[in-house]
Amino acid sequence: ARPGRLVIAVDGPAASGKGTLARRLAAHYGLPYLDTGLLYRMVARAMLDAGHDIHDAVAAEQVVNSFDETAFPEERLRGREIGEAASVVAAMPAVRAGLLTRQRRFAAQPGGAVLDGRDIGTVICPEAPAKLFVTATPEVRAARRHKELIGRGEAVTLDGILADIRRRDARDSGRSDAPLKAAEDAIVLDTSALTVEEAASAAIGIVEGRRAA
Ligand code: DC
Repeated sequence: ARPGRLVIAVDGPAASGKGTLARRLAAHYGLPYLDTGLLYRMVARAMLDAGHDIHDAVAAEQVVNSFDETAFPEERLRGREIGEAASVVAAMPAVRAGLLTRQRRFAAQPGGAVLDGRDIGTVICPEAPAKLFVTATPEVRAARRHKELIGRGEAVTLDGILADIRRRDARDSGRSDAPLKAAEDAIVLDTSALTVEEAASAAIGIVEGRRAA
């Protein structure tokens, strides 16, 4: 590794706060940041836009090898329906393989990078010196996602979102290819009872501990 080079892997379930923390870490260390969930959301969006059945693995393999990363404004990727559809395509080995190289290339930038997702510490950047696994209870995550979706003007109920979260956890954790799980050398950060500021300073503390080690 080059001196001063730092790769930070941030994994965790939907609405755990991993995106917020990853962004804060990237700003703190002046590193580029990649939200890898957006790549899976782009594949899902491109599938639906083209009129494919989201479960069509043959179509998904074609889409993942041809989609244009610049074609999707973020507001078309953040909705509830796309999160669900992304979780379906993310279980397909050809989709994961198709997205692997661009994630590794991002992580290989000279100064390092911060990546967040489900399998950054286990599959994409197993050599990362600093790995966080961010969690929160399903109820806390549902409340956060509910607030976010209401803010976007979506008509959603808290119970509906909690059911979504439980279904997504089961799908993301239960798939055979790169399931959601903490890497053995990841440090678990439970944000259930923490404010964003508290969680951010805890995350920086964890990375500093790893850098010193
Ligand atoms: O983090 P997110 O909610 O935007 O991710 C959307 C879906 O993409 C999620 O249900 C699982 C999948 N995903 C994945 O399998 N691996 C990643 N590194 C990132 C996301």
